[in-house]
Amino acid sequence: MEDKNTLNPEILPEKLVEEVEEEFHHINNPAAGIKPIVKKYLGIPIGAEQKGNKFFFTDGDARVEVTVVTDEIIRVRLAPHSVFLDEFSYAVPKLEKKVSVFGLREDENEYIVSTNIVNCHVRKKDFFISFSDNQGHETSSDAVPMHWEENVKFGGYYVYCTKECHSEESFFGMGDKPTEFNLRGKRLQNWNTDAYSFAWNQDPLYRSIPFYISLNEGIAHGIFFDNTFKADFDFGAEDPTKTSFWADGGELQYYYIHGPHMMDVVKRYHILTGTHPMPPLWALGYHQCRWSYYPEAKVRMVTKTFREQKIPCDGIYLDIDYMDGYRCFTWNRKYFPDPKKMIKELADQGFKTVVIIDPGIRVDDNYSVFKEGKENRYFCRRCDDYFMEGHVWPGRCQFPDFTNPEVREWWGGLFDELVQLGVAGVWNDMNEPAVFGSGTFPDDVRHQYDGHRGSHRKAHNIYGMQMVRATYEGLRKLMKNKRPFTITRAGYSGVQRFSSVWTGDNVASWEHLKLGNIQCQRLSISGISFCGTDIGGFSGEPDGELFTRWIQMGTFSPFMRAHSAGDTKEREPWSFGEPYTAINRKFIELRYRLLPYLYSAFWEHHRYGFPILRPVILQEQEALTNHFRQDEFTYGDKILICPVLEPGQKSRRVYLPKGKWYNFWTYELVDGAKEIVVPTPLEIIPIFVKAGSVIPEYPVMQYVGEKEIDEVKLNVYYTETEVNSFLFEDYGETFAYEQDIYLEKKFVVKGKDSKLTIQQSMEGLYTPRYENYHFNIIGLPFRPSRIIADNKDITDFIVNKDKTVELKFAKNFKQIEILK
Ligand code: GLC
Repeated sequence: MEDKNTLNPEILPEKLVEEVEEEFHHINNPAAGIKPIVKKYLGIPIGAEQKGNKFFFTDGDARVEVTVVTDEIIRVRLAPHSVFLDEFSYAVPKLEKKVSVFGLREDENEYIVSTNIVNCHVRKKDFFISFSDNQGHETSSDAVPMHWEENVKFGGYYVYCTKECHSEESFFGMGDKPTEFNLRGKRLQNWNTDAYSFAWNQDPLYRSIPFYISLNEGIAHGIFFDNTFKADFDFGAEDPTKTSFWADGGELQYYYIHGPHMMDVVKRYHILTGTHPMPPLWALGYHQCRWSYYPEAKVRMVTKTFREQKIPCDGIYLDIDYMDGYRCFTWNRKYFPDPKKMIKELADQGFKTVVIIDPGIRVDDNYSVFKEGKENRYFCRRCDDYFMEGHVWPGRCQFPDFTNPEVREWWGGLFDELVQLGVAGVWNDMNEPAVFGSGTFPDDVRHQYDGHRGSHRKAHNIYGMQMVRATYEGLRKLMKNKRPFTITRAGYSGVQRFSSVWTGDNVASWEHLKLGNIQCQRLSISGISFCGTDIGGFSGEPDGELFTRWIQMGTFSPFMRAHSAGDTKEREPWSFGEPYTAINRKFIELRYRLLPYLYSAFWEHHRYGFPILRPVILQEQEALTNHFRQDEFTYGDKILICPVLEPGQKSRRVYLPKGKWYNFWTYELVDGAKEIVVPTPLEIIPIFVKAGSVIPEYPVMQYVGEKEIDEVKLNVYYTETEVNSFLFEDYGETFAYEQDIYLEKKFVVKGKDSKLTIQQSMEGLYTPRYENYHFNIIGLPFRPSRIIADNKDITDFIVNKDKTVELKFAKNFKQIEILK
């Protein structure tokens, strides 16, 4: 086979050659300085071969593999000289084939691998790859053939893929990128980076999620470029007609994920990379953090004030100062003389203690963790076998190689003592990995990579994920049947299987409030639903208004934690005095009231792959005007939130998707599919509930488990259509749900002008302890004369001044009819 060192004009039509050459100038790769850039292209396919659900095409030298994963997911891989890399991915733990009907066709121009839903076309003349649906619509197409470039310094290849970008195509996803929600026109990089006080448009940040969703002419598809090397994405930035992604090494390997709805794409991305396990219920409560609460007296003062102020709180954090010289798994006995006693007494008041653990292990032969790691050769080494050393909080450190399963096992076991002390959760930080001065490890550091050895170039982006995996798996073993809580700063696709995340060191500014809103929505559609920002901003000083607006937004972040740097002023919900304290309390209470709703949305995420936060575009992708909306989102599928993101804002515009919505505060019914103006005094952010919803509510508690729940309130919002709602219930802290011990309840609400019917059905094995529901019927267009519940007349219902109707009835009811 000839060496295709340059563009081969015999293979590429003349115009394309020009385009391709043009493309070379556009792509800034690290080798761009070395001229000439020598890219290689595939030749002409000379045949196709099938092995199970994999199809291979070759030009005699390079090979392309097309794997049918499900009816809607197809993976494409390229091996420049026929040899594919090991089939191994940290993101996709098991590539299970979930498709029965698929096959290969061929015509004069192309090979076509098809399922019932999608077709992957491999053009015979030039190996162009495109995808179409079963209606014949082309959904994605290469703009130039897949290409690669030898990497002389490290071996392997730079790999490139360039697809067509259409004039109205929009792009979403990619994790925590701090930029507009729609990524059209952006060029972004994935290389996990400690980005203290990051700015709008700063890139890259802490996480690498090489997954994007394209939306063009109302049809969505996703691309997941599962490559852990430093990777770049260009969404029509250099050339508005092209979308490219490329990496410094590894394989050109991507999954095409069919829609046509964005929600389908997101759900299917979860099929590949997994979902969050169910968190302990308390982890959905409010968390209070600061760098650092110490000594013990300070921790006790903060926690005591929460209870005195009657502001609910579940999580209390110990940042690095709890340790002895920042040595992980040790305690500073001067500050914390008896951690077990303190943690126990905090637990008695409902506080769950979460401690920080960083990857840097202090080089110190008198420190057992270092000694063990050293003796067992668990720390990362450079290419010439020197240990990888760098300075972090403890001073000179070495770093465990979390890509080694034996190291992960050891690390997991190190939590034994913390678990014995009663620690309920672990916070993994600095795991990009961050190193003072140099930023991170040098490229030549070696990693075991679960037997698929590689340098730091390959392992950098998954280092943090493997650290929190080791933490989570260790805690899971040690805590027996209890659900651990973990939070990580760094991650790669699939990190959600092991942890929640926060968006890192943000700033106390209105701009960061806006950014946080976008980042959480973006993380949510990128697999990471359990996310939140440092409420109030990590660095800098918010005023009372900004802090309160942040608490209000944070009430609707799946993870809700206030955190601040040590050199800032006190930052608890009462720190700004009135009226702020009262408003902060009211919103944190609302968080607790809505816990069963959030918990059910979490179940929908865990079990079915729905994101918890759902941007408007996910719900109404047909409307071009929605492509650029980024403020409003729904929390679960029933409650629409629009945070207030400007200082002094007395009212704001809110877009309501189609359908009818109730103003949560006033019960006013509003028609959707339009923007409305909503008053936003300090104590209000716009919250709307979809007509027909059943929103479950717990009584306000100061912490999860404070009270035995003796009844659950069901807020039923009248509708003239038929609407389903769900409620998930289980023990809230064990893994019994993995043995199917839980209850999934479905409510169906149907209304007419003379009648409202609420039906309930349930599936599952769990029996909640409470006996009754307390119904609160909202928006009933008539005064009820009769209420029949499971064939019994209910006489003791109340009609309130605001026309809401209240009644109580058994939790196992089947049908309630409210008649005019
Ligand atoms: C990093 C973290 C921050 C933490 C600090 C000290 O900056 O992002 O959350 O408080 O380190 O541990």
